[in-house]
Amino acid sequence: FVRQELGMLHGMPLYKSFIEAWPQVEAFQARPDDLLICTYPKSGTTWLSEILDMIYNDGNVEKCKRDAIFKRVPFLEMSVPDMPGGIELLATMPSPRLVKTHLPVQLLPKSFWEQDCKVIYVARNPKDVVVSYYYFYQMAKIHPDPGTKEEFLQNFMAGKVAYGSWYSHVKDWWEKRKEKRLLYLFYEDMKQDPRPEVQKVARFLGKELPESLVEKIVHHTSFQEMKKNSAANYETLPEWVMDHNLSPFMRKGITGDWKNHFTVAQNERFNKHYKEQMKDSELCFRMEI
Ligand code: A3P
Repeated sequence: FVRQELGMLHGMPLYKSFIEAWPQVEAFQARPDDLLICTYPKSGTTWLSEILDMIYNDGNVEKCKRDAIFKRVPFLEMSVPDMPGGIELLATMPSPRLVKTHLPVQLLPKSFWEQDCKVIYVARNPKDVVVSYYYFYQMAKIHPDPGTKEEFLQNFMAGKVAYGSWYSHVKDWWEKRKEKRLLYLFYEDMKQDPRPEVQKVARFLGKELPESLVEKIVHHTSFQEMKKNSAANYETLPEWVMDHNLSPFMRKGITGDWKNHFTVAQNERFNKHYKEQMKDSELCFRMEI
């Protein structure tokens, strides 16, 4: 990749190669038993994907290592040269499929709603998201140069990063849960104790898991296990796509890392902006644990 500036898709900044493939993505035909994993980037997508694949495979670790996570859970709108795109991978997959997307609610292909597909959304507090995103911009070469931390923070607050405004994303998907089959989870809850969250996910799928299986899933999907699992850590991608020497994909996996990155002034500015942006929402994020 040569790093490129982002293009615009219906007012949302996005990678140009994704925008080129958009007509096919928009026309995507969902199946009623597709399960959609939806997140703003860097919010725990890969973690939830691995949890779901474990549930779908009854905790069979070997089956979950059959392929890389980006092939087991295709990324709907993904399209880059010389790699199979998300919809190409999905076309070859047997049902029931797990589908990943970062699309904001208003851009989701309408077939998912027509088929009444279930959706699981994970949200993460924005301070940790922006830090994680900054390092991801560096290592995933599809991104433009993130600039300094200060510049990146300003762009994030202004929605001038890939997938646009974090605020609109989390708020709009939160509203959608009132009318659709949508489970809304928080990264911070999963970090605090993944067990009840795994059970919530299973119940949402109409399953009741024995404690022993929950424990197995929690162990296999812990940060430490996923970091050393080449089927989960993105290390099988070529270096021109992701360079783990710049920053590993499985970077820290903690809550509150923003404290190591925000200055006092940045934090104050961010808090003020956050309050303003979230004043019309009942959504509440934990940033201190
Ligand atoms: P950090 O950069 O803060 O470490 P996504 O999958 O949506 O791109 O999110 C990536 C973030 O989730 C990264 O955050 C990554 O380390 C973290 N992550 C991935 N797997 C995790 C796990 N099993 N437990 C906790 N965090 C995890």
